[in-house]
Amino acid sequence: MQAKPIGFASGQYPSGHFTYPDICTSHIHHAMNAFPLDRLASRLHNIPPFHVMELLTRAQALQAQGRDIIHMEVGEPDFPTPAPIIDAAQRFLAQGQVRYTPALGLPALREAISGFYATRFGAEVPAERIVITAGASGALLLAVAALTNPGDEWLLTDPGYPCNRQFIQAFNGVVQALPVDADSNFQPRLAQVAEAWSNRTRGLLIASPSNPTGTLIDDLLLNQLADFAAERKGNLIVDEIYQGLVYGQEASTVLSRRNDVFVVNSFSKYFGMTGWRLGWLVVPEGYTRHIEMLAQHLFIAASSPAQHAALAAFTAENLTILEARRSIFDTRRKALLQGLRSIGLNIDTEPTGAFYVYARISGQCSSMELAHRLLEEAGVAVTPGLDFGAHRAQQHLRVAYTADVARIDEAIHRMRSVL
Ligand SMILES: Cc1ncc(COP(=O)(O)O)c(C=O)c1O
Repeated sequence: MQAKPIGFASGQYPSGHFTYPDICTSHIHHAMNAFPLDRLASRLHNIPPFHVMELLTRAQALQAQGRDIIHMEVGEPDFPTPAPIIDAAQRFLAQGQVRYTPALGLPALREAISGFYATRFGAEVPAERIVITAGASGALLLAVAALTNPGDEWLLTDPGYPCNRQFIQAFNGVVQALPVDADSNFQPRLAQVAEAWSNRTRGLLIASPSNPTGTLIDDLLLNQLADFAAERKGNLIVDEIYQGLVYGQEASTVLSRRNDVFVVNSFSKYFGMTGWRLGWLVVPEGYTRHIEMLAQHLFIAASSPAQHAALAAFTAENLTILEARRSIFDTRRKALLQGLRSIGLNIDTEPTGAFYVYARISGQCSSMELAHRLLEEAGVAVTPGLDFGAHRAQQHLRVAYTADVARIDEAIHRMRSVL
């Protein structure tokens, strides 16, 4: 499949008959006449709306009217932050000394992450190569800022995590989409990358497990892609944000095999800390000082309460809680897969990671229209494929198993009537 340059003109994202506020499309700004658009940078004219946030707004409005809504749209675990992390934060706050940390992060936290790589994955990742960031988002921003010159091209999967396009475009990079399908586990093939790679290509960004598909990339293929990028003097960024959330297999990291790639990770998902805004970036040896200077200017430092709280994330007590949650996610995954299939949705490749099922719909209805109907008629909130790219997006819905099995069953029951 050919790579396609992405030009996300707002018109590419038809809002159809939807009435949700379309915060990013220019005609609305004109209509409101609130602010002359020519004062905004042109990159803002091309940002598509994040449909899931608009669905969430609508879902919340329906809830406020007394409707019972089952939330399976947002990429956020429904579990609370584990008690050991909350306790550590409270102990830290009680001391009242909430100050900046070094830009690279608390040394103790960088050491703790390094220790986690060694004990859990047998990977040798010195603390000096670990940079603490404001979530995986901060890590992606730093990596892209550090590696992109204006006009440089990046290869991204379609479907893929939508914010990556904006990070690249914010630094005047160009996104080349690699359309991926179930037959390659929604991950790119080596030949596809080789064909898409031009003399302007700066690198390839992969997420494993992936959002929205929950699928993993094969170790061997990932190695081949890393070799290929290295041969072309390009970069590979591997987003391992869903690392701990894999089912029927052990979690792994590319860092146990290579030290020449950039790796993004986060406390948001496996560690249940979305709102704390904490993550990390692992950089190849020799890059830390440059990234440090960039981080100093962009962020000064990541949140200090969050960093102190995260020191408790790797304790045996906390990891036991997280592993129990992983097993609950697996039970939900199986229930959801079975349920979605029973109502005629197609799962072309079974997800074995994250907490998403990327389901293909049959029939004429677009996923956008279906997501809208499911919310309005059944009170079930799911995400239309359009949020993750253009490739077969109108045929797919992302359903997150961020609700317990009883609610999943109820959601399936309600969806059946709409479908
Ligand atoms: C693949 C992927 N990368 C990065 C992020 C950003 O996560 P955070 O900034 O909360 O760590 C997300 C969030 O959903 C994601 O799915």
